[in-house]
Amino acid sequence: MDSIKQAVELARAADVHHPGTLSGPPLAADGSLHSSAESQHNEVRLRADHLEANRIVAYGTSGKNGRYYDMLRTQVLQEMDKKSWQFLAVTSPTAGCGKTVTACNLALSISRLPERSVLLVDLDLRRPAVGKYLGISGNGAVLNVLEGRTPLSSAVVQASVGPNRMLVLPGSVSSNSSEWMASQTMGALLQTIKRDFRSRIVIFDLPPLLLGDDVISILPRIDATLLVAGVGSTSVSDIKECQKHLQRTPVVRVVVNKVTETGGPYYGYY
Ligand SMILES: Nc1ncnc2c1ncn2[C@@H]1O[C@H](COP(=O)(O)OP(=O)(O)O)[C@@H](O)[C@H]1O
Ligand SMILES: [Mg+2]
Repeated sequence: MDSIKQAVELARAADVHHPGTLSGPPLAADGSLHSSAESQHNEVRLRADHLEANRIVAYGTSGKNGRYYDMLRTQVLQEMDKKSWQFLAVTSPTAGCGKTVTACNLALSISRLPERSVLLVDLDLRRPAVGKYLGISGNGAVLNVLEGRTPLSSAVVQASVGPNRMLVLPGSVSSNSSEWMASQTMGALLQTIKRDFRSRIVIFDLPPLLLGDDVISILPRIDATLLVAGVGSTSVSDIKECQKHLQRTPVVRVVVNKVTETGGPYYGYY
C-alpha cells in the first residue's frame, strides 16, 4: 500500500515539474540543466553564397545592408551595456516580418567585434529557421536538449565565417511549443545558458508575439526585446497590441523591416 502511495506522490510531483506530456531531463540542485561549461562545440564553416541567398549580409564589412546591421548592433549593445543586460529576444507581432533574418544578421555583426562574443538561440519551436538561413543542419537541436537527449554543450555549434566566430543553438519544431516555452525545463535551460555562457550576448529568435502565448511565457526571463515590424504586414494596432505585452520587458529598438529601396533604406529602426 505504501509503495502505491509513494508512486502516486511521485507522479504528482512529476506533473508539477513537467506539465502535459512534456518530459524533460532531471535538473541539477540549483534548478539548471546538467551541462559542462563552454567547451568542445561542433564546428561549421558558413558559406557566403548561402548566407547572401538568405539575406544574411552582416558577416563582412562590405555592403550597404551590412552597415545598417552594424549601426543597429552598436545601438543595441550601448543600451544593453548600460544595464548589464545579457539576454535579447527578437520577436515581431506576426510571422514573416523578418525576425530570423534580423537575429542572424545582428548576431553576425556582433561576432565581428573583437571584444564581443555571441550565442544565437533559435527558440521558435513553431517555425525554426536559423539553421536553414545559416546553412547549419539541425544536429542536436534545442528540442534534444529540452528532452534530455543531448547535453547543451554538444547541441551548440560554433559557426565561423572568415575570421569571425559565433555560437548557435539551432532550433527544432515541436507541436508543444506553447507548453515548452512555459515549462520549468525551459527555465532551467535559460538558467544554464546564463551560467555557462555568461560572457556572451545571447540573442533569442522567438515566435511572433501575437500568435500564441509562447513569447509571453518567456518574457519575464528576458532582459530586453527587439521588435521587428514588417512593412506591409504589420499594422499600427499590431504594434499597440505588442506594447501591452511588452510593458515589463524593455524594448531596445523597433526595426521597421522590408522598407523598399525607393521608399528609403533597406530597413530602418527607431
Ligand atoms: N529586409 C528585407 N527585405 C526583403 N525581404 C526580407 C527582408 N527581411 C526578411 N525578408 C524575407 O521575408 C521572409 C520572412 O523573413 P524571416 O526572417 O524568416 O521572418 P520571421 O522570422 O519573422 O518569420 C523571408 O523570405 C526573408 O528572406
Ligand atoms: Mg523566423
